[in-house]
Amino acid sequence: MSEKTYTLTKKELNAEKNKAIAKFASVASHDLKNVIGGLSNIAYYFSKTLKLEGETPNAMLKLMSSEVANLNTKITTLLDMTRVKQLTKAPCDLQDIISQAVNETKTEGINFELNLLSSKIYADAERMKQVFVNIITNSKDAMQNKGIITVNMLIENNTVKTEIIDSGAGMDAETLESCLDPMFSTKLAKAVGMGLTVANQVVEMHNGTLSIESEKGKGTKVTVSLNILNS
Ligand SMILES: Nc1ncnc2c1ncn2[C@@H]1O[C@H](COP(=O)(O)OP(=O)(O)O)[C@@H](O)[C@H]1O
Ligand SMILES: [Mg+2]
Repeated sequence: MSEKTYTLTKKELNAEKNKAIAKFASVASHDLKNVIGGLSNIAYYFSKTLKLEGETPNAMLKLMSSEVANLNTKITTLLDMTRVKQLTKAPCDLQDIISQAVNETKTEGINFELNLLSSKIYADAERMKQVFVNIITNSKDAMQNKGIITVNMLIENNTVKTEIIDSGAGMDAETLESCLDPMFSTKLAKAVGMGLTVANQVVEMHNGTLSIESEKGKGTKVTVSLNILNS
């Protein structure tokens, strides 16, 4: 078996695996939301009715409420992200979509170097913007909100390629292998680990590709390739 055939098969297998896990996550989180709702009510009831002596029991009760609230946010995000949504595609300019994503993710400490080109695509603009918001958010996280993010748009034949390049922490081989998996995250408890999964799914739903190159300690380049709409 040639290396090329093996890579293709593995990619297809991963896509199937990811779809199954996303489906499971969506079903499981419905149930979990009910359980968390119950726990949240109990925590609230205790906080209102229990007369606890001393600092520690009161601090514990407060912690319980905030942990339940944390879990609730996490599950809600997960549910929103895994919910299968119908795409509403229309002709649009990828340059506008990327400009909007950059505007939404702007923060002090991060400078953008933008090399954008006008390029018509046939896409769900809102969901495509989310793709770039998710990718840029990861770059910001990896650079600890300090440094330059470069966004290059290149046109090759019938394809528009957008590169998002950061000089952040980068990924080791193991992280790179898993970073598209649902709920994979190397970040703190609050992270959901769905940003790249969703980005990849949306790009695939537009018949495009998302590829990632990364080196630990050096940085990351994410490339999104989409078909140009011929008018
Ligand atoms: N630009 C990047 N630089 C370094 N690591 C990254 C980058 N983008 C993604 N990753 C890695 O991939 C993981 C998954 O990313 P994502 O799906 O967006 O989930 P989350 O951001 O919630 O952790 C991250 O936790 C991180 O380890
Ligand atoms: Mg993310």
